[in-house]
Amino acid sequence: MTINTDRDQRRTLADGNQMPVLGLGVWQAPDGAECEQAVRWALEAGYRHIDTAQAYGNEESVGRALRASGVPREAVFVTTKFYPGGEDSALELEHSLRRLGLDYVDLYIVHWPQGGPTWAWPGMELAARRGHARSIGVSNFSLGELDEVLRIAETRPVSNQVQFSAFEYRRALVEGCRERDVAVTAYSSLGTGQHLDDPTVAAVAARNGRTPAQVLLRWCLQRDTLIIPKSTHRERIEENAAVLDFELSSEDLAELDALDRTGGTDQARPDAWW
Ligand SMILES: NC(=O)c1ccc[n+]([C@@H]2O[C@H](COP(=O)([O-])OP(=O)(O)OC[C@H]3O[C@@H](n4cnc5c(N)ncnc54)[C@H](OP(=O)(O)O)[C@@H]3O)[C@@H](O)[C@H]2O)c1
Repeated sequence: MTINTDRDQRRTLADGNQMPVLGLGVWQAPDGAECEQAVRWALEAGYRHIDTAQAYGNEESVGRALRASGVPREAVFVTTKFYPGGEDSALELEHSLRRLGLDYVDLYIVHWPQGGPTWAWPGMELAARRGHARSIGVSNFSLGELDEVLRIAETRPVSNQVQFSAFEYRRALVEGCRERDVAVTAYSSLGTGQHLDDPTVAAVAARNGRTPAQVLLRWCLQRDTLIIPKSTHRERIEENAAVLDFELSSEDLAELDALDRTGGTDQARPDAWW
């Protein structure tokens, strides 16, 4: 077996663009030094994807850190998300670009289907036609909501970012996305920190000589999703990136699969929070 340990390894999206399998999430990374530092450390550790959002209020810090890093713009994949409390998804991306100090983002996604799954999509397509987003997609969309977008789309969504972990193994959603050539990015794969103390995860980690965070992230990769763990601590940012040089066995995977509390759902969320 050959394992590709390159931290910049990428998945080809349905539109031909290439997205790194490993990214840094920056939800709850406060705007300013803390967020900037996390992005800088991630880039130093070899991450080449940063996942921010209009709702996170830290796009300016992400942009500052990218510029200060010296890593060429084209080497980094930047995702931001349309806050659907706004009205005009194309215009809001222009505001994001100003905050980020960029000419384009690599991926622009509808953060959640507030007000219905389709109304924001024509604006997302316009943003792509204008060259402001290389790829467009969605987040927190169930399979049914994704199908509604696909029905009206001139430009198809290429990615769906959803809550996904061993404890939220949305098997039907991931399989449905795969059938539709929509890449799934897993968020809150560590349960926003809450899955790290689980005894099953700890046992699998001990067996593999890895940490619980690494096991949870590796499980996501082997379940066909991209990952965007969040941390503002340098050693954890490094730890979370060290998941490309080992494989969980089929027994490990089965044990972790059994932690699922969603019943393998095709839904993206237990309920709507908006
Ligand atoms: N699309 C959406 O609606 C949506 C929703 C939620 C999240 N997301 C995205 O997904 C990203 C990740 O999800 P998340 O922020 O919910 O959390 P997560 O990645 O599941 O977990 C992050 C939490 O775990 C801690 N942590 C990280 N690595 C650790 C390690 N190796 N050991 C111990 N603790 C560790 C972090 O603490 P420290 O930071 O203090 O190290 C933080 O409290 C977000 O940042 C965001 O970009 C998207």
